Order: sequence, then C-alpha cells, then structure tokens
Amino acid sequence: MSEEITIPARRRVLSGMRPTGKLHLGNYMGALKNWVNLQHETLPDGTPKYECYFFIANFHALTTDYADTSEVAKNISEVVLDFLGAGLDPKLSTIFVQSEVPAHFVLNSLLEMITPLSWLERVPTYKDQQEQLKEKDLATIGFLGYPVLQSADILVYQAEFVPVGQDQAAHVEITREIARRFNHLYGSKRAGKADAAKSDKERLAELEQESDVREVLPEPKVLLTPSPKLPGTDGRKMSKSYGNTILLSDPEPEVRAKLKTMVTDPARVRRTDAGNPDVCPVFDLHKVFSTAEVQAQAAEGCRTAGIGCIQCKGWLADAVVNELVPIQKRRRYFEAHPDEVKAILADGAVRANARAAVTMAQVLSAAGLG
Ligand code: TRP
Ligand code: SF4
Repeated sequence: MSEEITIPARRRVLSGMRPTGKLHLGNYMGALKNWVNLQHETLPDGTPKYECYFFIANFHALTTDYADTSEVAKNISEVVLDFLGAGLDPKLSTIFVQSEVPAHFVLNSLLEMITPLSWLERVPTYKDQQEQLKEKDLATIGFLGYPVLQSADILVYQAEFVPVGQDQAAHVEITREIARRFNHLYGSKRAGKADAAKSDKERLAELEQESDVREVLPEPKVLLTPSPKLPGTDGRKMSKSYGNTILLSDPEPEVRAKLKTMVTDPARVRRTDAGNPDVCPVFDLHKVFSTAEVQAQAAEGCRTAGIGCIQCKGWLADAVVNELVPIQKRRRYFEAHPDEVKAILADGAVRANARAAVTMAQVLSAAGLG
C-alpha cells in the first residue's frame, strides 16, 4: 500500500436496510441489534472502536417497487423511528438516507462501467427474487444492478466491515470482486496505458496479475450477525412477505395475542400430551429471548406435560415484551419529536457526504476523471 492512504484510526463500518415498512424482530435480531452493539464497542483506551455509518436504502426499495412509490416516504420514517428506537445513537453513528448522498449514484455509475453482466446474473438473489415476485416485472437494469449500487454504498465510504445477515453475504462478496477489479484497472502503475495490440481480455488478465496495486477501494469484509433461527408465528422464517411477524412497535397486547396463536409442536395436541421443545418454534424464540432458567423450566414442563402451551407462550411473551419496552419508549420519544429526527438525518447526510467526497476524489482521479 502506498503512503497516500492513511490508515484510519477507527475502522469504518457501514450497513443499510431497505425501507420496506416497520421493522420486525427478525430485522432486529438479524442485523439492527448487532449495529447497536457495534457502536458501543471500544478500544482499550476507551475510544470507540468503529466509525459507524448506517443508512436507509431508499433507491434499493425501487428495484422491486418502482411501479408504486407511494409508500416509500412513510416507510423511511418508520424505519428511522425503529433505528432510533432500537438504540442507534446519532452521537455514535452517522445515520442517513441513501438519496441524500449523491456520491452513491456517481460511484454506482462508474462501477457499472467495469462490472461484467455475468457477475450480476449469477448472484443468487437475482433469479430467486424474479421467481418469487412473479407479479412484478423485474426485467430492468436497476434490478439486475442491485448489487452494483450496494457495492457503491459500501465502497463510497471505503468501509472495512459490513455487518449483515447471511442473506447479504453474496452481495458483499461481489462488492469485493468489483473493488478488486477497480483497483487492478485503475490502481496499478500500468493502469490507463492501453496497448493497441492487445484485447481488453488480455489487458485485464495482465492487470489482474499486477502485484503493485494501490487499494483505492479496499475490499470490505462481511461481519456476519450471529443470527439465531427466528421463526415467525406460523413457524416459517419471520418475514414481512409471510405475514408472520412481530413488529418492534407492536403494543404489548398485540405481541401477546400474536404469540398466543403461534404454532407449536404439532404432536402436542392435548394439554395432557407431552411435547418436544426441540421441534417447537415457540421454543426457538425462548432460546433467543428467555433466560436460561425460563428455558429450562419451559423445556421440562413441555416434556412432562407439566405446563400447557398457553403458559409457555405467556413466559415467552414476558421476555419479548421485556426486550421491546425500552425500544418502544425511545421510539415514542422520537415520534413526539419529528424535528429532532429531521435534524439527525440532516446531520447524518452532511457527515456522510463529507466522507464520501474523500473517496470520490481518489476514485475519480484514479479513473482519470478528476
Ligand atoms: N440489500 C440490503 C438488504 O436488503 C440493503 C442494503 C443496500 C445494504 N445497500 C447496502 C446492506 C449496503 C449493507 C450495505 O437488506
Ligand atoms: Fe412448544 Fe412450549 Fe407447547 Fe412445548 S409447551 S409445545 S415448547 S409451546
């Protein structure tokens, strides 16, 4: 690495979410809670370990929902409230909306120039989502280019770590590949010197062999959220599209009512039947939210038919509500102070734009554009 790149004192972290509506426990346990924890991690001298950037990917929402954007603004507000409710702290993290930082789209456009179509076509979510969302016409450049924009989101901050769930790992992987290609094309001594006798393919192959390459865009690493299995009320993975979620903002009676109807060990039909917690989705949630003591009590009571499912679910509801109380308290505060929320996002955008500008100066100059 050359001297031009200063090693940041703090390691940069970036992650984002699409504004699909109010967040649920799956979003929280799968990513958001981890973000909140990361902003509190400190070095031995007590200073923060990470420089954190968290954003709402409103352009990404349009990759699948371009035909109807009527909900996007509302959904952004809900997600911001959930971010702040969950404990993202604007004093510790830069919180912003993607479209407030135009550099994402400038870098996206540049990265599109160097990204082979074949890389995008083989991203697993590309075909999967097209299959799953048959009612939508996803034969668009934007949908195919989803991972390029996501790469730009990450690389425009020269982020080192991307805390996401397993479902996003493929996107971080392609980000690494795009960064590597950028660096080999524009970060080596021989960059920009075309040789008329050689095809692009030959030239790229040569550049890829080059060892003296400046890491203009460092390859980010995924910081996998240790995500426990989080089933929804129907036993399938908790997901908005299944309609089986418990929202971070659900009032206590709603949480209790939803859990009351949750599916259990199907073999436990009558109260007097013994059950098996190992095959019960309710118990999967106990493992995430309840204390070891309550878990042991529930498992024992289930196996001996000592307790009924209603009681077991009541204990679970206590634990879930307990987790949600402080989140909802903060959420209500910000709901009552919309100007404060606006100011947080405005300040976040200023900080994000400033950091993105540092990267863009290096990127444009390396690519011969600035
Ligand atoms: N694709 C992510 C999701 O669906 C959202 C996202 C967009 C993102 N850009 C990102 C996540 C950059 C991490 C980093 O959840
Ligand atoms: Fe599931 Fe609890 Fe009922 Fe056992 S007692 S089947 S763990 S809900």
